Amino acid sequence: MAIRLIAKGAEAEVYRTRIFDIDAILKDRKPKAYRIRELDENIRAARTKSEAKTTYIADSIGVRVPNVLLVKRYQLYTTYIEGTRMSSLMQQGKSIGNRLMSKVGKYLGMLHNAGIAHGDFTPANILIDAKGEPWVIDFGLSSISDSIEEKAFDLLLMKRSIDCKSYAYFVESYSSKASASKAILARLSEIEKRGRYNERA
Ligand SMILES: Nc1ncnc2c1ncn2[C@@H]1O[C@H](COP(=O)(O)OP(=O)(O)O)[C@@H](O)[C@H]1O
Ligand SMILES: [Mg+2]
Repeated sequence: MAIRLIAKGAEAEVYRTRIFDIDAILKDRKPKAYRIRELDENIRAARTKSEAKTTYIADSIGVRVPNVLLVKRYQLYTTYIEGTRMSSLMQQGKSIGNRLMSKVGKYLGMLHNAGIAHGDFTPANILIDAKGEPWVIDFGLSSISDSIEEKAFDLLLMKRSIDCKSYAYFVESYSSKASASKAILARLSEIEKRGRYNERA
């Protein structure tokens, strides 16, 4: 089986491979020597399981995500998505269209309505395919959550990573989709105020 490392993050090693004759991605959570072994195994297993679960739910509610193919204790196989990270496009100075930002906002609203906080909702975790369609990836820090704070944090991360105009399209679409958007946006303002206060301190 040909296997090629394509990313090595703090969390996991990501490989491109094949499984069941399908072009696939393997996300492999390696041991962390600085953690007590039992704790380390629990964390890696829990994150693998929750990433599989939330990715699966996201797919079932119509958010474009990779398909879950196989879940092992520390390894998750999903379909390979041919695309470019939104963050890479931004670094190359390519403009991110308004329609695309609206779609990303709509997807986040759908996730929140389904009780999922993504946990790392940044342009590095959005892939754009050849048709210009966004795919949400990396549910490794996601949670099934009713927490307004965690959802507001998803908005905050994206807001900090994109320009004002892009954010305007993103949040407009998010607000019309997310049923609790009012409370979540209010919490976002609160977090931002806290942040400004902390920066002054
Ligand atoms: N299903 C996928 N299809 C294509 N590329 C992927 C897929 N999943 C991950 N990648 C690539 O691997 C990188 C790291 O994967 P990610 O799930 O974001 O893990 P990390 O926790 O290291 O950020 C992504 O930024 C993307 O470039
Ligand atoms: Mg990532």
